[in-house]
Amino acid sequence: MLTVSYAVPTAFSLKSTAYLSTTCNMKHLPSSNRYNKMVYNRCGRSGIKLPAISLGLWHNFGGTDIYDNYRKVLLHAFDCGITHFDLANNYGPPPGSAEENLGSILKNDLSSYRDEVIISTKAGYTMWPGPYGDWGSKKYLISSLNQSLKRMKLDYVDIFYSHRPDPETPIEETMAALSVAVTQGKALYVGLSNYRPDDAKRAIKILKELGTPCLIHQPKYSMFERWVEGGLLEVLNDNGVGCIPFSPLAQGLLTNKYLNGIPEGSRASKGVFLKPEMITESKLSKIQLLNEIAQRRNQSLAQMALAWILKDSRITSVLIGASSISQLNDNLKSLDNVQFTADELISIDKILN
Ligand SMILES: NC(=O)c1ccc[n+]([C@@H]2O[C@H](COP(=O)([O-])OP(=O)(O)OC[C@H]3O[C@@H](n4cnc5c(N)ncnc54)[C@H](OP(=O)(O)O)[C@@H]3O)[C@@H](O)[C@H]2O)c1
Repeated sequence: MLTVSYAVPTAFSLKSTAYLSTTCNMKHLPSSNRYNKMVYNRCGRSGIKLPAISLGLWHNFGGTDIYDNYRKVLLHAFDCGITHFDLANNYGPPPGSAEENLGSILKNDLSSYRDEVIISTKAGYTMWPGPYGDWGSKKYLISSLNQSLKRMKLDYVDIFYSHRPDPETPIEETMAALSVAVTQGKALYVGLSNYRPDDAKRAIKILKELGTPCLIHQPKYSMFERWVEGGLLEVLNDNGVGCIPFSPLAQGLLTNKYLNGIPEGSRASKGVFLKPEMITESKLSKIQLLNEIAQRRNQSLAQMALAWILKDSRITSVLIGASSISQLNDNLKSLDNVQFTADELISIDKILN
């Protein structure tokens, strides 16, 4: 339940976000039955459970987005039992602004609920100029984490990730940086993202030897992107590491959103990470056929795409993005049916192959 709404300007800057943050003094009152609505899955062989659906702040929570909109989405997610919010140093735009905005919402609305949320951040992609603002050195990872904590106004994050493997830095150094973050009390757990099976296996072994077991791996995985099925899921399962796939809706392609063209304001209309040329005739015909299977299951395509990932018990959580409360609600309903018949799975594979 939201207790306050604002009139906001349409063009929004980081400066005006900060202004709102300081002037807003009416806190959100979270739904009292939020934990009855969600499924929580154990993350590998750890003590942590994550919601089956987690919310990522890569898009829609930056300095160019509207505070009142993304605040409502995030608080609605929390009201629906989503306890995990995923960030990275570079989320925005501009880079860092998603962390600042999350920090404002946590401070203004959820300051009494820090112990009820799992906040993750990452370092690994370009963040500042020069040789120390990118990739996987200890210098970069620790400096970046210090900056992230400041932006979010937090003492610690729950999960700190190496965002991508660095082919030039010894993997031992990158893993040592993750471990130091934990021993310094700046992170409770550590994770890997975008590591292929062999690199993941090495990293997991090193982290174990350092006494900082890897909690989780965050790979790209959807019906349209299935590389994790070629060994990564086995490595994670064998080592008791959880898995939280990102872009499970292929950035919106695996929904009914693009079936009749590219809507104004959609991610594809912005053309940066999802480009119009990626929405080919062949992709659209697959989306249409998948949509027909979803309809026969009484699900939206988005619901079926999320359920299709969650059917595998090795998956801890799916990490979605959402630009509105209605998208979030649509996606949450995927949890009503994550079972597939053998025939449905064969039909889906035929469409995808
Ligand atoms: N580790 C990494 O390298 C990495 C990389 C990328 C992402 N991530 C993480 O994964 C998170 C999710 O990534 P993602 O945003 O690409 O995930 P996604 O769930 O595949 O795509 C989210 C987008 O799909 C559209 N959408 C969502 N639900 C919908 C629905 N029910 N109906 C119609 N459209 C719907 C929205 O697009 P519109 O905005 O167009 O409405 C939304 O912004 C990120 O926020 C980030 O935390 C990690």
